[in-house]
Amino acid sequence: MKTTLLRQVELIDGTGAPARSADVLLRGDRIARIGQNLPAEADELVDGQGLTLAPGFIDVHTHDDAQVLRDPSMLAKLSQGVSTVITGNCGLSLVPLVTTAPVSPLDLLHTTEFRFPQLDDYARAIAQNPPSVNVGALIGHTSLRATVMPDLSRAASASETEAMGQLLEQALAQGALGLSSGLFYQPAFAADMTEMQALVRVLGRHRGVYVTHIRTEMDGILDAMQEAADTAQAGPVSWIMSHHKCAGPRNWGRSIETLALLERLSKRQDVGTDVYPYGAGSTLLREDLVDGVIDILITRSDPHPEMAGRHLTDIAAEWGCDQVQACRRLMPGGACYFQMREDDVRRVLAHPLSMIGSDGLPHDERPHPRLWGAFARVLAHYCRDEQLLTLPQAIHKMTGLSAARFGLKDRGVLREGAFADLVLLDPQRVQDKATYDKPHQMCEGIERVMVNGQWAFAKGQATGTGAGRFLRR
Ligand code: ZN
Ligand code: CU
Repeated sequence: MKTTLLRQVELIDGTGAPARSADVLLRGDRIARIGQNLPAEADELVDGQGLTLAPGFIDVHTHDDAQVLRDPSMLAKLSQGVSTVITGNCGLSLVPLVTTAPVSPLDLLHTTEFRFPQLDDYARAIAQNPPSVNVGALIGHTSLRATVMPDLSRAASASETEAMGQLLEQALAQGALGLSSGLFYQPAFAADMTEMQALVRVLGRHRGVYVTHIRTEMDGILDAMQEAADTAQAGPVSWIMSHHKCAGPRNWGRSIETLALLERLSKRQDVGTDVYPYGAGSTLLREDLVDGVIDILITRSDPHPEMAGRHLTDIAAEWGCDQVQACRRLMPGGACYFQMREDDVRRVLAHPLSMIGSDGLPHDERPHPRLWGAFARVLAHYCRDEQLLTLPQAIHKMTGLSAARFGLKDRGVLREGAFADLVLLDPQRVQDKATYDKPHQMCEGIERVMVNGQWAFAKGQATGTGAGRFLRR
């Protein structure tokens, strides 16, 4: 088995513990030894030169379900130090969806190219054409609904709920990490507590997690959080609130209330949340999100692809109509909504219950910069420049905390016996480059990334090894 010795790195182990100087010996796909002045006997020697060595980052919130198959190099993520992506968020997963004409927002995933009735089918496709990063999968509640229900505008009947539960049970038995829901989106909005709790009880038998894009992140956010938390209690299973934000000017500043509620709930149940470090959200174009106040940037438009990258106010002015009318003409499409305020973003980022998840949308023409920049931006802007977090705290939110929440064994921490998923980075140089104007930009300061003992990224390029694996719970 190949051995690699990394000498003189500043080791940040992912637990939140402070950095320490160390040598790290790797054997095969695992960490064999961590110590001082280890003997320089290895097939490969890497001089760490005082760079920071951390566990490879875990992107807990992705929509990379199809992307890992379409573009296995996964450069947008890998170049930020990400070694594992968790797919199937917001209720949307490729498994078990086999429909040919997916309703919105399932089309976010580019579902039509792929047919995976079972999780094993998806895992096999990944094994046959392995991406550069590991993949863990959630099963989407909206995908279950679309598979089982002819009419998505109502709550599921008892027999439909039973059928969804069976599909979920099968996926969990095949290693799914949990269930996600997106009650915010129309095809799941009619789901009631009875339907959700029945599915969560299935989850409870397999110790899966319940991950939610809650019903609303606007005025009714506290009720929506309570609903999701109470749903998770039916398992009981641990609950993760996706991309926490207080959306819309009326709700700015309310993260004081929402985080207080999250803390109260954490005394009763296992809870967490994920967050990306930007003031704009991004999803489909929806006229109910056009309030005439916030700025809206078009990321893609099927009828008007030339409008990607332009602001809705300018398009409306050019067309001589109001913003809602312009939105309708641009649909179906996607947009960035500048719906958050900085103090809320900071409060959520700094909170001990939050993890980092990009929520990047890989199929948009002009994607939100979080796709290429989220992890680097936390390290550069919020950690180094703003000192909102210490480096070990920030890295814990990208690694150890994330692996523990999602049940990823032997990942997210640097210790002897753990998998050799690693990132070697320069905390002084790390910088996100992706912007709303130029979103396809690789960050700087990530020197090397290793996945399962193989170098996946070095010298600013993906090595193309395809060392990623499908991770089963
Ligand atoms: Zn979402
Ligand atoms: Cu999402």
